[in-house]
Amino acid sequence: MTENLFHRLQAALASPDIDQKPLLATRIFDDWRANKFAAVDAVADVAALEVPLVHGLPARPEIVFGSKVPRRSPATPEGRAALLHAVAHIEYAAIDLALDHAFRFRRQPRDYYADWLRVAADEARHFGLLRGYLQTLGYDYGDFPAHDSLWQMAVKTKDDVLSRMAIVPRLMEARGLDATPPIRAKLLQVGDHEAVRILDIILNDEITHVALGDKWFRYFCVDKEVDPETKYRELIVRYKAPWPALPMNEAARRSAGFSDGELQRLAQRIP
Ligand SMILES: [Fe+2]
Ligand SMILES: [Fe+2]
Repeated sequence: MTENLFHRLQAALASPDIDQKPLLATRIFDDWRANKFAAVDAVADVAALEVPLVHGLPARPEIVFGSKVPRRSPATPEGRAALLHAVAHIEYAAIDLALDHAFRFRRQPRDYYADWLRVAADEARHFGLLRGYLQTLGYDYGDFPAHDSLWQMAVKTKDDVLSRMAIVPRLMEARGLDATPPIRAKLLQVGDHEAVRILDIILNDEITHVALGDKWFRYFCVDKEVDPETKYRELIVRYKAPWPALPMNEAARRSAGFSDGELQRLAQRIP
């Protein structure tokens, strides 16, 4: 029996349950690999504009404005848990982002869906690693406030797949590549080797996610006959998105497809 991929994606996006959503995302990818879905084209005939925005939020964590999330020093066990909670929250949000890349944009090549379903399953695994570790520290996901700024970028780019690829995986996830080494250093300093091990797994996977963002962004730029590196900076400005913070993780970004020239212009914020 074949199933409708987009119905399954909608159900996973809508789930407000922190146990269920990662499971649903993982099962979609498993079923995709087992060829259980009807041909993508047969159920795809709808424009991104008509696809609803679905984002089931759990009762906890409390969602606050970014600036109200308390600063975290990993020197205390509670501070360390808060820091890991913030990373877990990003992973949880990233499940919905990847699901929405696949849900919203129809009539794309088969590989487009294969790539983002794989990423959604990766994010579910990252969330599980961090949540499991938080629990060993006596905390759980939901115990600290969090912000919803990543999803806001998904909302802003909901009508245009080229912008979505630029702003979400190629900009926001790439900012995660830059943010990881300082967090890793702090955790290493306080001797939390398990947290460091988990962050290393995540960073490695995240390079591939940014590389997929790069791959699809360039694909849509070829289609529209625009220069990707110029277009990217133009979109950062147009969507009022944050520029990469310095120092950038240049090695990781190069592996993910950024050229030296582009890194230089991003560092100088040349629009
Ligand atoms: Fe992740
Ligand atoms: Fe990711």
